[in-house]
Amino acid sequence: MRMYLTMFTLALAAAVAMYAADAKAGKAVYDTSCKSCHGPDGTPNPAVAKMMKVEMKDLKTTDADIASVVTKGKGKMQPVKAVTGNAVDDVAAYVHSLKK
Ligand code: HEC
Repeated sequence: MRMYLTMFTLALAAAVAMYAADAKAGKAVYDTSCKSCHGPDGTPNPAVAKMMKVEMKDLKTTDADIASVVTKGKGKMQPVKAVTGNAVDDVAAYVHSLKK
């Protein structure tokens, strides 16, 4: 019983630690690879929209499949090649967390 409780506690601690790491890692990825175009909080940079001649949606309200947009691109947005593997999931989680 004691053994079971210890393992349960460890598993729970690991799950909590993983969740925290995701959000933090996602923000770092966003700040490096997305912020210049999508703004610090998901509000598009108007200069970028004008330069690319496209109307950019607010990332806070988008229902797009973020992971797919990042890896395959969408419309005038090119795939972000620097973001791969876990970083794709992390940044998607971070963008979803911007929703209000
Ligand atoms: C070079 C500028 C640029 C960078 C860097 C960039 N984007 Fe974009 N993104 C755009 C533009 C422009 C669009 C609009 C494309 C269109 O509608 O033709 C867009 C569209 C999107 C959309 C779709 C929104 C919708 O509702 O249709 C998502 C999601 C998105 N970007 C996420 C990201 C994420 C996450 C990153 C970082 C990994 C990123 N973008 C990096 C310029 C950029």
